[in-house]
Amino acid sequence: HLLRLLPFSLIALLAGCGVENLSALDPRGPVAEMQLNLIQLSLYVMIFVIVVVFSIYTFVLIKFRERPGDTHIPKQVHGNRALEFIWTTIPILLLLILAVPNIMDTFTLAETPSMSATEADGEEGEGQEGMVEGEDFITVQATAHQFWWEFEYPNLDINAGQDLYIPTDRRVEIVLEASDVVHSFWVPALGGKMDNVPGITNEMWLEAPEEGIYFGKCTELCGASHWLMDFKVVAVDGDTFDVWAANMAEPDEAVVSGEAAGEAAVEGREVFESNCISCHAVGDEGSPTGPNFTNFGERQVVAGFLEPTDENLHDWIRDPQSLKPDNEMPAFSEDQISDDEMDALIDYITELKVLEED
Ligand code: CUA
Repeated sequence: HLLRLLPFSLIALLAGCGVENLSALDPRGPVAEMQLNLIQLSLYVMIFVIVVVFSIYTFVLIKFRERPGDTHIPKQVHGNRALEFIWTTIPILLLLILAVPNIMDTFTLAETPSMSATEADGEEGEGQEGMVEGEDFITVQATAHQFWWEFEYPNLDINAGQDLYIPTDRRVEIVLEASDVVHSFWVPALGGKMDNVPGITNEMWLEAPEEGIYFGKCTELCGASHWLMDFKVVAVDGDTFDVWAANMAEPDEAVVSGEAAGEAAVEGREVFESNCISCHAVGDEGSPTGPNFTNFGERQVVAGFLEPTDENLHDWIRDPQSLKPDNEMPAFSEDQISDDEMDALIDYITELKVLEED
């Protein structure tokens, strides 16, 4: 494994790929694996070309160099059929070696699970594995906004923000859209990337056979805070995912009201209702122009890049623009939310959980 990645080690060092699950050179799923194989194939073909060309070049430089006493003009050659045939055929072969796997994988990657499902419904598709929605794959609509990610599960009645939960036992079909400008969806360890373009729907699929948290990035310059437009993919086993999905679709009333977390949280719920609910929904309440908060207490990061500590949340709500320029979140001064109310609010939102683990 190490030897296989040797040519990349220098690039990886330069790129600072020290973070776990943030490297396309360390694939954790079949899509990223396929993409890495293509990268490696082209790298080896290029290394072969460079070695051959420079060897011939060096050989010619030395063998035909001017020697002391050389006065005659070398033999002049005007065309050589055999040579021309060789240097035309070899590049054609090399291009075929690159093209065939590239084209085959392109078709495999373009074949989303729902396409397989449709084809299986009709005539017997050519080697199609009739995939069943829900059983073999789930569909997520990933809408990019300046500067956050919205993940809707149309068939599960779920709207989630920032963390993309997926099951390890199913493929994930991702429908990419954008609400404002062009963004791009990339989870280096799992696959991608593909653009989110306003008015256009792009489709791709991923699979994460191992449980874990995978880093996701927006990879299209989309504004002042493009570099902070991160998200996380949380891959959990199938049963955990089903529990998550059921609770996201229908969250516990006691959690939504704050009662499950005690008096401060109930107070916080009131602060939330008078300040936050017009943009942030819990369950299906409110109009979600900002990230959905149903599982906010389980966020890997806040606003895409902040550790979800009480202090960070406080700073974020007070002055979001200084932390993430040009985002849509308004600032809340002490006149709007007092320090006590802020504490209650943070108590409330950090207790919004749908997977009861701690
Ligand atoms: Cu969104 Cu860059």
